[in-house]
Amino acid sequence: MEVVVGGLFHRHLHPTLVETSRGARLQSVDPEAVLAAVLPPGDPALTELAREFDESWTRLRSRVRDGLLFAERTAFLRGEGWILYALARRLRPEQVVETGVANGHSSFLLLEALRRNGRGRLVSFDVMAGAGELVPQELRSGWDLRILPQRGRAAAFRDAMALLGPVGLFLHDSAHSYGWMELEFRAAWARLVPGGVLAADDIDWSYAFLDFARSVGTRPVVLVEASKPFGLLARPAGSPVSLPATPHGASERA
Ligand SMILES: C[S@@+](CC[C@H](N)C(=O)[O-])C[C@H]1O[C@@H](n2cnc3c(N)ncnc32)[C@H](O)[C@@H]1O
Repeated sequence: MEVVVGGLFHRHLHPTLVETSRGARLQSVDPEAVLAAVLPPGDPALTELAREFDESWTRLRSRVRDGLLFAERTAFLRGEGWILYALARRLRPEQVVETGVANGHSSFLLLEALRRNGRGRLVSFDVMAGAGELVPQELRSGWDLRILPQRGRAAAFRDAMALLGPVGLFLHDSAHSYGWMELEFRAAWARLVPGGVLAADDIDWSYAFLDFARSVGTRPVVLVEASKPFGLLARPAGSPVSLPATPHGASERA
């Protein structure tokens, strides 16, 4: 009984930055240090990527205007955007999946990276029609934007993920409840290629990310930007595909 009650409370608590740091292989406020810990070696060179990213970031910011559907505070920050962009360029994924589009900051940067890669598509999930306003027409050909229904949302997400092929990069930036984060992480990890990366914003909204990392035996790398932690989990080559049983009896609420 005590274990069940403890488990239920656990799902409503939030880790502090000290706790995220304890669970991490590295936690830093420096995006370069975080990148050095997760970026696979190879081309293009980091200086070239930084130049490209500056260009894309400037173009993205020039599209931001009053009257967008979502408040500016929902937007991806520059440091996490840089990490996401560099990962998409170096991993050269055939498929990227993101959840949580809002005005489309992260979508724009991912699509820019895929455009420069000359391959790969982005599948994005949101729950609000009209999400992704910042993404220009010329980037939309490689973009599969899906709006999840209000009823049966978890099943719709799980079913859609089950039909996707291998995923090279996954970004969680949607609902941050324990149950929903856990649902996404499990669906994503089952499809993540060895060497692929699972990224998650706001990992201090619940213990879901830290618990998940522990359950798959991988220590995350964490960027802290504007006091909020952005976590990255790289899937080791040869790690088992099967996942451990749900540790806290998850139900999925968005
Ligand atoms: C923090 S914003 C995303 C910001 C976005 N990544 C960006 O860079 O601009 C969160 C988004 O998640 C969406 N959302 C909320 N619950 C969701 C769910 N269960 N599945 C998918 N998207 C969800 C919201 O409609 C909102 O667009």
